[in-house]
Amino acid sequence: MENLNKKEQVVLVTGSSSGIGKELCRMLVSTGYKVFGTVRSKKDSATLSKEFGSRFESIIMDVTIESQVLKARNKVEKYLGSAKLCALINNAGVATLGPVEYMTTTEFVTQINTKVLGTFLCTKTFLPLLGTNRKLEGPPGRIINISSILGGKIGSPFMSAYCASKHAVEAFSESIRRELKPYGIKVIIVAPGSISTPIWNTLKRHGRNMNFSDTEYYTPFNKILRSLEKFDQNSLPIDKLSKVILKSIETKYPKIRYTPTNDFSQKLWPYIPKKLMDKFF
Ligand SMILES: NC(=O)c1ccc[n+]([C@@H]2O[C@H](COP(=O)([O-])OP(=O)(O)OC[C@H]3O[C@@H](n4cnc5c(N)ncnc54)[C@H](OP(=O)(O)O)[C@@H]3O)[C@@H](O)[C@H]2O)c1
Repeated sequence: MENLNKKEQVVLVTGSSSGIGKELCRMLVSTGYKVFGTVRSKKDSATLSKEFGSRFESIIMDVTIESQVLKARNKVEKYLGSAKLCALINNAGVATLGPVEYMTTTEFVTQINTKVLGTFLCTKTFLPLLGTNRKLEGPPGRIINISSILGGKIGSPFMSAYCASKHAVEAFSESIRRELKPYGIKVIIVAPGSISTPIWNTLKRHGRNMNFSDTEYYTPFNKILRSLEKFDQNSLPIDKLSKVILKSIETKYPKIRYTPTNDFSQKLWPYIPKKLMDKFF
């Protein structure tokens, strides 16, 4: 492993095999950061290493498995030496769609574990490198938690597991933002609207595979599917989102919550009275 250049800033991105995580790694590498990106397969590790070059290093890690997160921390710690980690981006996520009644326990648990347990484990494990270890040199690092502009604030029908996981991430972020003040570690939520990534196909396939076509859920479910398709067609370009995440890492006074979206009206939805929103749904 090469030695750390004194001015080099190191960032860890979870879920870098595709979509938002992958594009973010690309932008960070091209901006001059050293990036550790987590993947879950050797194949993805090889592909990314080839694509991003020596400023990128992949780590095989499932965010829900503590022993793998600890191993990843050891690797990053070895590279950093006495320096701090500049930022941890808790991006890894999955999306579950469908009526609760037809959702398996495994689907629900996978959604919650990936987003909530994963964010907890990575945060807890990397905190010393971000600055709770006072012996390390450099300014405190930052934690950027990827939520969802609507999923983090509003409960949408047929997206209960996804919304529950994003609401939890928002609450967790708010708590630790306050808790970590003594160490100067800033915690920032980036809650995008729709971004065109493979997650949308997974989401739609997931709902369609459930067998409830002879139930009263079917018509409203299809309406939700159609509105998701509309959101997908009006996605924010992924590089614009990467720029917002980059800003949240670099700007001196970051916002508490960034909501990059192509659809400005989504920024207002959380302020609409709940009963009115019920009618809309
Ligand atoms: N796309 C959107 O419109 C949108 C909008 C708002 C928020 N978000 C959020 O943005 C984040 C990234 O989503 P995306 O759209 O880029 O989706 P994506 O293309 O499906 O990427 C998801 C990434 O998470 C990884 N991942 C899943 N489970 C994991 C686990 N247990 N451990 C480690 N990595 C895991 C995946 O790795 P594998 O390849 O190994 O599965 C993949 O790299 C998610 O948190 C998502 O909720 C997305």
